[in-house]
Amino acid sequence: MPKRKGAEVPSHPSMPSPRIIAIANNKGGVGKTTTAINLTGALVTHEKRVLLIDLDPQANASIGLNVLIAPTAFGTKLLLQDDRYTIAECVYEKSPFLDVIPSHRTLADTQHTLLLDPDGRTRLRAKLQTGGKPYDVILLDCPPEVGLLSQSALQPVSYDFALISESYYTNRYQRFYY
Ligand SMILES: Nc1ncnc2c1ncn2[C@@H]1O[C@H](COP(=O)(O)OP(=O)(O)OP(=O)(O)O)[C@@H](O)[C@H]1O
Ligand SMILES: [Mg+2]
Repeated sequence: MPKRKGAEVPSHPSMPSPRIIAIANNKGGVGKTTTAINLTGALVTHEKRVLLIDLDPQANASIGLNVLIAPTAFGTKLLLQDDRYTIAECVYEKSPFLDVIPSHRTLADTQHTLLLDPDGRTRLRAKLQTGGKPYDVILLDCPPEVGLLSQSALQPVSYDFALISESYYTNRYQRFYY
């Protein structure tokens, strides 16, 4: 019986590992978080080691994966604003193949601080280069904006993944970045 097209996650040995994918669009409600969660589910089902980082103060990916944290707990906020905390310290193990770095609505408060910090935009990239487990894929769920949080996510990516829906306003994102 022929294999169903798309039934396997293709492997590309020449691609860097981990593959880092940011799911970003400045328009809200276009399916970024849904894509991040479904992609995570598909990859984990195929026994790929996945790290999902929730960069959105709405914390929808964290809520969706049931990783709820207190404002001062380890999560995206401490990861982005403080050099001391590593990827490994901020991770919550959801399953043998899935780690999550969750967000909290107070992540929104850090944007101004990060803007004034010379390392604000590049801290996430630096930490991803030096720490963490040997993940196959790192997914970054971005907020609906083109500010510092999305810029942090776009620094380390090997792929960025701008969701395009059939709308004039959504497609303007393309022109902004490329
Ligand atoms: N392919 C789809 N078909 C129909 N509805 C969808 C699809 N993808 C997502 N949705 C719905 O659209 C709504 C917004 O989705 P989602 O929260 O993933 O968007 P988002 O881009 O992450 O939003 P935000 O910018 O606020 O973070 C949700 O109610 C979700 O269930
Ligand atoms: Mg979202």
